[in-house]
Amino acid sequence: MQAKLDQIKASFQKELLSVSNEDSLREIEIKYLGRKCELTMLLRGLAQMSDADKRTFGKAANVLKLEITEQIENKRSELGIGGSESTLDVTLPVEPLQMGKLNPLTSLQYEIEDIMRSMGFMVAEGPELESEYFNFEALNVPATHPARDMQDTFWLEDGNLLRTQTSPVQIRTMLAHGAPLRMICPGKVFRYEAMDASHSHTFFQVEGLMLDEDTNISHMKAVMAELLSTLFGKEVKVRLRPGYFPFVEPGMELDFSCLLCGGKGCRVCKHTGWVEFMGCGMVHPKVLEAGHIDPKKYQGFAFGFGLDRLAMMRYGIHDIRLFYEGDIRFTKQF
Ligand code: DAH
Repeated sequence: MQAKLDQIKASFQKELLSVSNEDSLREIEIKYLGRKCELTMLLRGLAQMSDADKRTFGKAANVLKLEITEQIENKRSELGIGGSESTLDVTLPVEPLQMGKLNPLTSLQYEIEDIMRSMGFMVAEGPELESEYFNFEALNVPATHPARDMQDTFWLEDGNLLRTQTSPVQIRTMLAHGAPLRMICPGKVFRYEAMDASHSHTFFQVEGLMLDEDTNISHMKAVMAELLSTLFGKEVKVRLRPGYFPFVEPGMELDFSCLLCGGKGCRVCKHTGWVEFMGCGMVHPKVLEAGHIDPKKYQGFAFGFGLDRLAMMRYGIHDIRLFYEGDIRFTKQF
């Protein structure tokens, strides 16, 4: 028995000398320590031995096993192979986990979606890379129309563009669902603009559309007052002024009463008591036609507002660029 142990030890040591990589080390580990290795077999054979032999050989075999284990470990660190248990200290304190946070634009978007859903509006999506037809033509902005200059466009070489507004999703949703219809579309839009604290080439808009046989501007005022009051947790007043957008007739701009000064006048509302909020109006018959909806039967309102400015007001953020820098120190604050 002792001779057998000596022989195992000698051949192990000889083979260990020629080990030069992870694979050959693993091989010899299996050969000398694996479930079916000679040493294991010998240890199993102890059962048939006398008590005295069991003690002597059992001890010798276990000592050899430990020696082999140790030498393999040594070889492992000599070869610089990681993951050996002896170098892993499970009692060391762990690095604190960094929890992610939603960007304030995203949380505001989700809140708006919930409020609008509660009034029966569906939440639609559309592509950010859009065709000229959906972004302009179908919205009653033909190629020669001066209103195209209102929105500086990122054109692609193939004639497509990055959408300058979420309004094209109105058309896409009319085509997909017909009327009556209540939809909003929050999404990213792009304009060829220089960046500063209040301008970004990428920003968010929320588009809205409500169509039925007798939907009119008073419905829109009620919907917007409900949205803003729920969002800000207090009664918000809205007012309309004439405005121009080719896809609505009549076109309007909607302002809401300044939340910071309660209408008395402050820096945020430029001492007017009102904050400019969105473009809106009654959907132009040509736009309904582009959406395959009969303008003699259906009518309704549409609106579009910027999410960034609303979020900046709500959270007291003074630079729009912060939304887009992906800095966790910023998002963690909300
Ligand atoms: N798309 C317009 C913009 O980007 C906003 C807008 C105005 C949307 C009037 C509308 C609307 O749906 O009816 O400036």
